[in-house]
Amino acid sequence: MSEYPASSNPVATIGELSKFNDKTVTIRGWVYNKRSSGKIHFILVRDGSGIAQCVVVKNQVQPDVFGAFDLLTQESSLTVTGKVHKDDRAPGGYELQVEDMKVVHIAKEYPITPKEHGTEFLMDHRHLWLRSARQHAILSVRNRIIKAVREFFDNKGFTLIDSPILTPASVEGTSTLFETDYFDLGKAYLTQSGQLYAEAAAMAFGKVYCFGPTFRAEKSKTRRHLTEFWMVEPEVAWADLYDDMDLAEEFIEYVVQTVLANSAEELKVLERDITKLQPVKRPFPRLHYDEAVELLKKSGVDFQYGNDLGATDETIISQQYDRPVMVHHYPAACKAFYMKRDPERPELTLSVDVLASEGYGEIIGGSQREDDYDTLLKRLEEFKLPKEPFEWYLDLRRYGSVPHSGFGLGIERTVAWICGLDHVRETIPFARMIYRNTP
Ligand code: 4AD
Ligand code: MG
Repeated sequence: MSEYPASSNPVATIGELSKFNDKTVTIRGWVYNKRSSGKIHFILVRDGSGIAQCVVVKNQVQPDVFGAFDLLTQESSLTVTGKVHKDDRAPGGYELQVEDMKVVHIAKEYPITPKEHGTEFLMDHRHLWLRSARQHAILSVRNRIIKAVREFFDNKGFTLIDSPILTPASVEGTSTLFETDYFDLGKAYLTQSGQLYAEAAAMAFGKVYCFGPTFRAEKSKTRRHLTEFWMVEPEVAWADLYDDMDLAEEFIEYVVQTVLANSAEELKVLERDITKLQPVKRPFPRLHYDEAVELLKKSGVDFQYGNDLGATDETIISQQYDRPVMVHHYPAACKAFYMKRDPERPELTLSVDVLASEGYGEIIGGSQREDDYDTLLKRLEEFKLPKEPFEWYLDLRRYGSVPHSGFGLGIERTVAWICGLDHVRETIPFARMIYRNTP
């Protein structure tokens, strides 16, 4: 669209107006709001990069330009040409003194108005809701988080290995698989995690990560669960559980501190209390499962040793600290088949969950992997998993098996935590949950 509109003036985005002070530019956008004092019209235009106040003075423009103001409805699209003027009172700090204006499309009555709407109504109109300031801020932070994730692993010498989405078997238990017919080969399943493939790649590249959409047919209707979510999963050859925890805390520190340094404007729009994020620095507290159970009991929770931590348990634990906490050595009964057991206490796994601060709960799940062929085979049997689809995975334990570890970070839960949101549905452009697969 760089040709549009034909104009002798430079076309600028609102975000770059500061580079054009006292110059005449054309901006292209949508009407956010408007008001008038009769002789002077004010139009707030947004273009995705910012909001600019456009000032239309009656005796400074053609009569048809001045009159076009009356036609403009919320979200009508237009191009505006005018002189850029620094004004600290204007939203965004710059104003356009309008010389010309072209209406591109007059929007029909816009369903989302500044008044309050219910969440279901807004989710039904998600394709339009994305334009509002809050949603724009959340998805901008998401973008920055994802960029930081990639920077972190790229800078540390990890190789990105894309894992498949259509897979022949389960990773995280068979109860939450979405299945589909796959030609003459029977069933295929939407992946729950790229981990098994990342493990294969780690034996080829040493340090790898996969990053993509993952799927869980979760019956849970909670503020933390989506049926489709994005997960980044590093996997490292020669790393044990403690190396894994070191990597996880360095990674989370990097992501949070990078967002604080780069997304201050967005966090302000979201009214996020950033003093709660500033302490997110290494070292994070580490709590053995046994200690976590002690802590729960001391807090008056009637907790059964051996159980997985529930959402409220996680909240109670994380509220003790000003930064994320790493709970490690969960009982085998509540974890996946591939986790290596603690040699001293085989009923426990070499696993770690990272619980975000402020009660946001688990954002990372990870472990050291079982690297012994016979033990892994036994695990498959114990978990009632068929051997055949895992033959290739067993090969990794037949040909030069080494200790290795990794983890998975859920992007949406991380966005919810960093943005301070109470539900994951606003953290992804188009959420998929048990009761929603539109728009
Ligand atoms: O703890 P999970 O199930 O771990 C795995 O999938 C491992 N294979 C990862 C690995 O070691 N490579 O999931 C990891 C993270 C969770 O901590 C959470 O942040 C997120 O994925 N997650 C979900 N996010 C949104 N909706 C759901 N239904 C989620 N299930 C897991
Ligand atoms: Mg988990």
